[in-house]
Amino acid sequence: MRELLEKMVEESREFTQGGQLASYIPELLKYNKDDLGIYLIRNDGKEFYAGNFDKRFTIQSVCKPLILLLALIDNGEDYVTQRVGVESTGKAFNAIMDFSQVEDLKDHINPMVNIGAIAMCSMIEGKDKDEKFQRLLDLTKKLSGNENIGVNMQVFESERKTGDRNRALAYLLKSYGTITDDVDDVLDVYFKACSIEITCKDLANIGFVLSNNGRSKSSDEEIVSKKYTRFVNAILMTCGMYDGAGDFAIRVGIPAKSGVGGGILSVAPSIMGIGIYGPALDSKGNSIAGIKLLEKLSNSLYLSVF
Ligand code: DON
Repeated sequence: MRELLEKMVEESREFTQGGQLASYIPELLKYNKDDLGIYLIRNDGKEFYAGNFDKRFTIQSVCKPLILLLALIDNGEDYVTQRVGVESTGKAFNAIMDFSQVEDLKDHINPMVNIGAIAMCSMIEGKDKDEKFQRLLDLTKKLSGNENIGVNMQVFESERKTGDRNRALAYLLKSYGTITDDVDDVLDVYFKACSIEITCKDLANIGFVLSNNGRSKSSDEEIVSKKYTRFVNAILMTCGMYDGAGDFAIRVGIPAKSGVGGGILSVAPSIMGIGIYGPALDSKGNSIAGIKLLEKLSNSLYLSVF
């Protein structure tokens, strides 16, 4: 398996040349565009990795399924789905569409695009923004089995400085009454969530829990309930790769979430959790070589659920 992964990484690495680093967050330009790595954890507990699997990078939008999980745990499914819809938008992750004719905002947003994720940040329980974020970080540590995960403060500052589009989305949510908290506090939680620093192994562990009905590899403890992992996996399948979700479903066929830091969290239900890192992105903000690598892996190990 190790040799197979190495071969796939090397074959996929050339595709990094066709992508770009995320430039709208200046700190992310410090990543190495040629990097590509993978870590997978199978349901028999065996772990395999190849390429630049040990690089640290920021989680970015891969925090969205974690925010969704916590919003579900704290509020239940009905509360969440009454405020944030579950249909794919078919639009870019940070799209500000023409909402002037929209009566029910929830029908036009989902938890995997920025506006939906910002709405869910306000649903996390906690007395203030710090406690809300701490609870999200604690869940991330638990799901990944890594106590040492923290925030990259340079990326956080960079996100905050350049986050006016997210500010616009948050004010829109407030104008519709979807959020009632202070906009800057809600965004603070969101920007910090995006700046959590992880590795492919952390993503693979999170993917493992999602593939294993909410149970961790090490203790078989139920970290989240099966009804919520099922909910999150379904949303990942339909919305996790933004306006590239349909193409990804055809080519790879498993639930996944991308981030502009280059990470992809993938879940092969009952088979394995997979973490990818490849910071060269396609025009939709997804890791260009990472998708190629997942396509090869899925074809070779018959991972597609279709
Ligand atoms: O909201 C943003 O702009 C980023 N911090 C996260 C966006 C992101 O990762 C989109 N994913 N492909």
